[in-house]
Amino acid sequence: MRILVVGAAGRTGKHVLTQGVRRGHEITAFARSPEKLKEHQGLSAVHQGDARDLDAVRTAVQGQDAVIAAVGGSEIALTLITAMRESGPRRLVMTSSRSVPATRPRLPVALAWLFLRTAYVDLARAEGMLQASDLDWSVVRGTMLNDKPAAGRVHVDFAANATGGAMQLSRADYAMALLDTAEDAGLIGKALGVCGPK
Ligand SMILES: NC(=O)c1ccc[n+]([C@@H]2O[C@H](COP(=O)([O-])OP(=O)(O)OC[C@H]3O[C@@H](n4cnc5c(N)ncnc54)[C@H](OP(=O)(O)O)[C@@H]3O)[C@@H](O)[C@H]2O)c1
Repeated sequence: MRILVVGAAGRTGKHVLTQGVRRGHEITAFARSPEKLKEHQGLSAVHQGDARDLDAVRTAVQGQDAVIAAVGGSEIALTLITAMRESGPRRLVMTSSRSVPATRPRLPVALAWLFLRTAYVDLARAEGMLQASDLDWSVVRGTMLNDKPAAGRVHVDFAANATGGAMQLSRADYAMALLDTAEDAGLIGKALGVCGPK
């Protein structure tokens, strides 16, 4: 697949680039700071830009089969949805947080909302925008991310509260889940919760 990765220079985004190339996809990076991607081999192209800039995103989505947004947020969702509805690909996979729908475990979720309320409200807004779009969207809600080595497995569910798995998830495994989702047409129109493996 030809996949555009937005937020490509981020900690998750870089794993999506590496793993996407390794899987044989034609990967194009979109980043505000492409100089952070110097060590990445095998990319089809690199676009410099801000994902809230409609003209930059319009250019980048041309000719792609799918977009993976390795950064969440309503302003980025709006730009991607607008550009993709005009002439881009239909398949959009976007990161979000497990905490957005969760009510349990009660204390960690309450603390996370206390400190990250603004970000979660914006991610909820972004999720709603994808769900109201007519694109082939998926939302991939990650739990607490870390930079530990990949386990090569994740726990996936479709419930508001996690049904198992570990609270911590490595960004390498999160990237794997984002690519798995982009490749799986059965996950179109779904919001997945992704936890680390038990
Ligand atoms: N952190 C967590 O524990 C956590 C938990 C659950 C879900 N998530 C989700 O996972 C995503 C990735 O997390 P992460 O920790 O890997 O992120 P990260 O390392 O902070 O990377 C985010 C990347 O997005 C880029 N970016 C931000 N705004 C942009 C814009 N307007 N246009 C273009 N690029 C932009 C940043 O660019 P620069 O390099 O230029 O700064 C950065 O490279 C989050 O956005 C969130 O949706 C995170």
